[in-house]
Amino acid sequence: MFNRLIPLMGALALWLGCSAAPPTASYQIIPQPQQVEQGSGEFALDARTPILYLTPSLAAEAGDLSNYVAQVTGIRLKAQFAKKARRGAIVLALDPTIGNAEGYRLTVNPKGVTITGATAAGVFYGVQSLRKSLPLGTTAQVLLPAVTITDAPRFAYRGMHLDVSRHFSTVAEVKRYLDILALHNVNYFHWHLTDDQGWRIEIKSRPELTKVGAWRDGTVLGHNLEGQYDHKRYGGFYTQQEIKDIVAYAAKLHITVIPEIDLPGHMQAALATYPQLGCTGGPYKVWQRWGVSKDVLCAGNDSTFSFIEDVLREVVALFPSRYIHIGGDECPKDRWKQCPKCQARIKQLGLKPYGKFSPEDLLQNYVTRRVVDFLKQYNRTVIGWDEMIDGHDIPGTTVMSWRGEENATRASNLNHDVILTVLQYAYFDFYQSTDVDHEPLAIGNYLPVEKVYGYEPMTNIADSARKHILGPQANIWREYIADQSHVEYMLLPRLAALSEVQWTQPEHKNYQSFLGRIDRFSHLYDKLGYNYAKTLYEVSDTVTTLDSGRALQVKLATPIGGTIHYTLDGSEPTASSPVYAEPFTVERSTVVRAMAVHPQLSSRVFTDTLTLSKSTGKPAVLLQSADPGFSFGGASLLTDGMIGNSCYGTGRWIGCYDKDLEAVIDLLSPTEVSQAQFGTCVLQSTGVMEMRGVEVAVSNDGTNFTTVATKQLQPMPVDYADGVHRHSVTWPATKARYVKVKVSCERKIPAWNELAGTPAYLFVDEISLK
Ligand code: ACM
Ligand code: ZN
Repeated sequence: MFNRLIPLMGALALWLGCSAAPPTASYQIIPQPQQVEQGSGEFALDARTPILYLTPSLAAEAGDLSNYVAQVTGIRLKAQFAKKARRGAIVLALDPTIGNAEGYRLTVNPKGVTITGATAAGVFYGVQSLRKSLPLGTTAQVLLPAVTITDAPRFAYRGMHLDVSRHFSTVAEVKRYLDILALHNVNYFHWHLTDDQGWRIEIKSRPELTKVGAWRDGTVLGHNLEGQYDHKRYGGFYTQQEIKDIVAYAAKLHITVIPEIDLPGHMQAALATYPQLGCTGGPYKVWQRWGVSKDVLCAGNDSTFSFIEDVLREVVALFPSRYIHIGGDECPKDRWKQCPKCQARIKQLGLKPYGKFSPEDLLQNYVTRRVVDFLKQYNRTVIGWDEMIDGHDIPGTTVMSWRGEENATRASNLNHDVILTVLQYAYFDFYQSTDVDHEPLAIGNYLPVEKVYGYEPMTNIADSARKHILGPQANIWREYIADQSHVEYMLLPRLAALSEVQWTQPEHKNYQSFLGRIDRFSHLYDKLGYNYAKTLYEVSDTVTTLDSGRALQVKLATPIGGTIHYTLDGSEPTASSPVYAEPFTVERSTVVRAMAVHPQLSSRVFTDTLTLSKSTGKPAVLLQSADPGFSFGGASLLTDGMIGNSCYGTGRWIGCYDKDLEAVIDLLSPTEVSQAQFGTCVLQSTGVMEMRGVEVAVSNDGTNFTTVATKQLQPMPVDYADGVHRHSVTWPATKARYVKVKVSCERKIPAWNELAGTPAYLFVDEISLK
């Protein structure tokens, strides 16, 4: 009886399952394709649907598709070669009439599915799009609504970088990283293989490099450049066999691996191996701390060039990439200035100051030129960081622009091809949430998803130079990113935002639409086990001053919907706290706390301390201009009721470089004042220092000011804490309409700091007058 009943019940369940509508695919994918045209009807995909590839060269793509479909739906499709397309199949074929080598057409109609591309890469991106359209969850059948997707990338170069020197990734982790890149249509993997803190590539003619240079005796803890060390031996490297394996794995994903050997700076791990290659002769240790080592390759030493050539000869043999990256960033000239060999080379070459460039800058130029000439023999194009165009031009090189957009403009106007990895849009080692107290430690600064999404690479590029812009890339520097899970957290979902900058034509980009699609895409991240940041599910506020500062209006929102619950009494909000329905006002200093409940997750708690004072909402002007990268909303930011936290880049701080913050606040009518309060934000490792003093002056006509209070501070000591410091100055109560507050910037960073002698940044937030 039971023997019969069980299969019967199984058959019944199958039959019932068939009567329920099967899950349906959605073409709401990332990156947004250029053209999606709905058709009529649908195609039913199930285990009987074959994947037919009409060219043997598409076997890999057919296999990938079969794996992807199985991964998300549990349906295993058979991939097979066929001479002709037929009904009821998914057909992969080449179509030379498709103009873009990476373009594809994906057609679904009731008779079947066809993916065509001019090359296998195009077919691969069509396969990725189909894969991303599938509904998640085990099923026997999927309905694919009829559609024609005609798609091609905006940029031919779509890069993503990974630093494996500061922290190492295993072969398996690099492959997993490559899988993630492929999911986002990235086609270049920039692999930062060497730096002061570790040499990660086996060089057979120089085996000592990985015996010595791949290992450090410990790693500095926390944010300070000097301080406590963990005293744990740390390191790793890739054998040449492993590198070949990774390059081949990437090639299957249509990703080219660009190796970077960073020279002549960032070489302390090599110097630890070969001290004779440094200007002082060492001894050197593989660096255990962050920053930029002043010990670099000696440019006056001929053996430096034989070393570079030995390394690059093996690098070109391992990497088929047309591009080889030779770094060139951040090469301090301190040692070269003191080194008899470097100075003799400068003399021999007759290097004289040229514009703003010193003979030592031109010596770096000389080193680069020699390496470029060497690589020419191997038919390779050199990529260098944008320092490469400092000094005399080196034609034919590709510039990776990182120090602001102006270097991209400069390089493209000089006829260099340019890859854009501009610091303020592309450094995924920055914080992505303003809630830095609950984020893993990051290098500093702030790069939210929305800012990545909003990046338009062609801004500031002359029409005539646009052909030189190869495409955008983002970087993951790993000082503070020790493991794979943290790498993924910093990468996702910012890479999804970047992928639309890289792939989608600007007229098809739309942030609101992206937010809808990223929510769906995140479920695929979950399915694949990728660790991604949940910042888009978090609450943030927009605060407006009302009635010249009598009250603040607070608007709460999350980028991705959800129900917001909040409290105003400082207590922890929960799902039973009041639901936020519309903007509310506060008339005194208030702690706003909120959280959002989404179908699959609850956000962490958002907290904002709003302050009201006599200056709130009053007009303010800056007498000295703020740093362009950190001026945000300008002077009104000083009286908007919002204070900053320990991340200086969130828009709540005004940043000045080598300038005082000098603001005049107009209280609109004579008002009794006796105290000014404000905060400063310190991050000593990046030259963001404490103020040196403050002066307050008052006036009734806005022209003649009387100083009422001054305060001086000593230069910042070495043990001064990073983060927010609150300051207050008082004076006998005075009636005044205008109050001028001048917070003075450190002009010469103290000797204990790596940036000794250079000017500092100063960050100031709300100035509250009482
Ligand atoms: C760089 O971020 N040093 C290229
Ligand atoms: Zn030297």
